[in-house]
Amino acid sequence: MCGIVGILGRGPVAEQLVDSLKRLEYRGYDSAGVATLEGGILERRRAEGKLKNLEARLQAQPLKGFTGIGHTRWATHGKPTENNAHPHATDRVAVVHNGIIENFHELREALQKKGTVFATETDTEIVVHLVDDLLSQGMAPVDAVRETLAKLRGAFALGFIFAGQDDLLIGARNGPPLAVGYGNGEMYLGSDAIALGPLTDNISYLEDGDWVVLTHKGATVYDRNNAVADREIVKHGPSTSLVDKANYRHFMAKEIHEQPEVVGHTLARYVDMGTERVMLPARLPFDFKDIQRISITACGTASYAGFVAKYWFERFARVPVELDVASEFRYREAPLRKGDLAIFISQSGETADTLAALRYAKAQGVHTLSVVNVPTSTIARESEIVMPTLAGPEIGVASTKAFTCQLMVLAALAIAAGRGRGELSEADETKLVHGLVEVPRLIAAALTTEPQIEKLAREIAKSKDVLYLGRGTSYPLALEGALKLKEISYIHAEGYAAGELKHGPIALIDETMPVVVIAPYDRVFEKTVSNMQEVAARGGNIILMTDAKGAEEATVDSLVTIILPDMAATFTPIVYAIPVQLLAYHTAVVMGTDVDQPRNLAKSVTVE
Ligand code: F6R
Repeated sequence: MCGIVGILGRGPVAEQLVDSLKRLEYRGYDSAGVATLEGGILERRRAEGKLKNLEARLQAQPLKGFTGIGHTRWATHGKPTENNAHPHATDRVAVVHNGIIENFHELREALQKKGTVFATETDTEIVVHLVDDLLSQGMAPVDAVRETLAKLRGAFALGFIFAGQDDLLIGARNGPPLAVGYGNGEMYLGSDAIALGPLTDNISYLEDGDWVVLTHKGATVYDRNNAVADREIVKHGPSTSLVDKANYRHFMAKEIHEQPEVVGHTLARYVDMGTERVMLPARLPFDFKDIQRISITACGTASYAGFVAKYWFERFARVPVELDVASEFRYREAPLRKGDLAIFISQSGETADTLAALRYAKAQGVHTLSVVNVPTSTIARESEIVMPTLAGPEIGVASTKAFTCQLMVLAALAIAAGRGRGELSEADETKLVHGLVEVPRLIAAALTTEPQIEKLAREIAKSKDVLYLGRGTSYPLALEGALKLKEISYIHAEGYAAGELKHGPIALIDETMPVVVIAPYDRVFEKTVSNMQEVAARGGNIILMTDAKGAEEATVDSLVTIILPDMAATFTPIVYAIPVQLLAYHTAVVMGTDVDQPRNLAKSVTVE
């Protein structure tokens, strides 16, 4: 949730720390801070709110140290004030932390009894005092950190620097990721490789339980048993530095517009255009015929991709699919049959609940397959099979291009399952592949609805509540539409299965209520039209997203009809995601919210 960086430099590092933090701001932006060693003395600058406030603070009171750590915060324990901002420090040690120290209460009480005074409401401060206490007894920094780590429970990544120790930076990982960067006589720590993009492309990832001692000469990694461990140094491509907005006003706009390209890349990875067959990564370690049930687990937008995929798997492969949000799955003790398949979907590959669900499934002896956008992420590394989405870095906190790429991967996998189970013939596969191949072009066509949606957004921005309705695979998209709108415009929105309307939500409908109906002309179209009639009869304002045939056949007056390209009904969610995303985006722009970094949210949710 928070982002951390550390630099052992050969010149002043404050500016580089802030630069790296900018690349991590997607993880949290409640407050930020840096600490460096100024002639051996620890000095901090911290500021509430976004990084620009910290930059202003540093301009007024610069830091010149060559050794430093930095942090951008998504508040968990303690309000997002300057006092609670990291780094937390004593005269001897400064610490940045991402994650949660679960046993901080008991540790804090023990130290308070010894007379330690705590200055903040954070769980992090306990780490500072534990280390400080050991240093005050004459222990060396490396030993003090090792002893302290043994006392901590929870999920955390930590970075430490020490007064009088210009050539020492220590990192630790228990849960949230931490990367080590190797430069030319410089060394770095970062929550991910993107943070270190401008500094180095030589990266190694700490494994869970690892901690690392950095000096200008290099890194010594220790595993959870404190044995020296070898962690491979890998080269990161230029994608780690491609995080600018190009000519777009927001990352979200750029990412929406990138979709024809990135969905196309993802398609090319999973479909052989020559043979018109789906291609999976290497050989699967199971036969789809032996799978009796698939479980799909994810959070938020990724779970809606999983929800669409449930329809596809059940239809193409006639295999029952159980769908869960990860925060529920991990604790509900779901019985899983050994040898069945569990699928995990995650853009970041670091979502704590999804990772915990994956570990639970592995322990049950099922095959685990993950659909992730960050191939070096923990979920990717811990899954038996990885099917990457090729969306590229997604910086806008609201997921857009990762969602459509997830759908593309899942569609290919569902087709493969159908073939594997003998439910789809070769001809069926060819027909479905033809449908998929069209998708990038259709997404580009769907983007041409933008001017109409921009105008509509001015109306939606006047609403207090918005309903989204859909049937079949348009139902998960209705849920996604509502999530997207509420998270970036702060307008209350709900998604419903269109047929559920009359079982309660219809009571909400009046002339102030916009109802977005997602209804491509498919086999449930007429049923959805009946539900639209129910809305119209109660004065609701219908915004219909359909195709030319649907617009012709819908016998209900709508406030606005957005016409999308004609296409095979099966894959409409991948294309109809575009107007749904555009509507949320433009409404948020009209509302003047912080589109890329909406309040209270973070891109990578590494706490449960
Ligand atoms: C909403 C959104 C979130 C994420 C969710 C899971 O726009 O982005 O709902 O989808 O937090 O994150 P990942 O996919 O990284 O596991």
